[in-house]
Amino acid sequence: MKKIQDRPVFLGGTPVLAKPLPPIHVVDREEIAAITRVINRGPLSGFAGVHSERFFGGEEVRAFEAEFSKKFKVKHAVSFNSATTALHGAIVALGIGPGDEVIVPPYTMSASATAVLMNGAIPIFADIDERTFCIDPKSVEKRITKYTKAVMAVNLLGQGADFAALLPLAKKHKLAIIEDNAQSPGATWRGKPLGTVGDIGVFSLNVHKAIQTGEGGILVTNNPIYALRAQLCRNHGEAVVDDMTDYDAGPIFGSNYRMTEVVAAMARVQLRRLDFLTKKRVALAARLTKALAQIPGLTPPFVHSGNTHVIHRYAIRVDEKKLGISRDRLVEAMAAEGFSMSRGYVKPIYLLKLFQERKAFNRTGFPFEKNTYYKGNPDYSKGLCPVTERMFEKEFTFTDVCQYPYTARHTDLFVAALKKIIAYKHELA
Ligand SMILES: Cc1ncc(COP(=O)(O)O)c(C=O)c1O
Repeated sequence: MKKIQDRPVFLGGTPVLAKPLPPIHVVDREEIAAITRVINRGPLSGFAGVHSERFFGGEEVRAFEAEFSKKFKVKHAVSFNSATTALHGAIVALGIGPGDEVIVPPYTMSASATAVLMNGAIPIFADIDERTFCIDPKSVEKRITKYTKAVMAVNLLGQGADFAALLPLAKKHKLAIIEDNAQSPGATWRGKPLGTVGDIGVFSLNVHKAIQTGEGGILVTNNPIYALRAQLCRNHGEAVVDDMTDYDAGPIFGSNYRMTEVVAAMARVQLRRLDFLTKKRVALAARLTKALAQIPGLTPPFVHSGNTHVIHRYAIRVDEKKLGISRDRLVEAMAAEGFSMSRGYVKPIYLLKLFQERKAFNRTGFPFEKNTYYKGNPDYSKGLCPVTERMFEKEFTFTDVCQYPYTARHTDLFVAALKKIIAYKHELA
């Protein structure tokens, strides 16, 4: 007879974790010192929206960009105030707009798709690979039309999409590749840093990311025209190009997507932490993967050949039949034990009201319809991307138990909680 505390909480036992895991907040004296230095010294922003040295930002912004370029071995790095605005910068940089389509995955943060809409272009959704949850090149190929201008390859959860297939496909159809690398800083594809494999890469510094400044983003490219157009998009390009005698890269207007000096100072410190944090997560993930091998029905992260995976989040695929309990019941029971896990990831983006009703700019229907430049017919119907829908509804979950500062003790307790639930799966189901 098992002791009462060995039973799952739902069956009267005691939770594996007496208190919830502490929040993740890796900021210490170095960040505080850097921010304090900038606050005391001023100015808090070095940008001016006029054709001058200050058009490119202040001392900290430029130092952060130079350090980022060096770290990721890329010619140009352009900071933004979020990855969302940087993704819009990428669309503008590539000259994508009304009449164009961009192929995006539906299993990603909505900004990967709305950045396309922001410039009046149409997101077209291709399905994901069930092993990596990144866009599936075979599905991409089926979605290419005469309107397609680019593929948004989202490097989801810490590893890259299948670039061995995507790069030749893009070349064949003359498509640009934007890498939404918000979640995978430090990961590589065939030794190349992700974010620098395609034409433009975008990173996020929001509070959920490996390195963070609360909010923030950065765009990288080896193409000087794309870099300049991104800078113009970031800082009121319309007010600047008239004074640039040598600008000849197409019509432009911009916004205020600028990073403050305070944020840049913090970003410089966080950038120096990246490798340490990655190493910690990857080591814990390896331990967890080894333990999960003993549990039939749970599949640990698959790493694409040629990729390194930085485990932004530790994804687990649930085979409900083999496991003998549904994903949702497992997630509920784990939460009761003190471990939060996700029920899927996001709702497939094309199922959001925005796409179902095709209303983006008020109720005009533009750019989906009443669009002089576009006579395509995007499909946003349920069933469009069956792998994504299956992951969302039944198979996908992730945990943050591999994040720093959690330790092997936490991953071991996580596995103990899983085993306890599975031992009682018949009663729980
Ligand atoms: C894949 C992906 N793309 C874009 C974003 C947007 O990033 P930000 O919050 O910096 O705008 C996120 C943020 O969660 C993301 O995960």
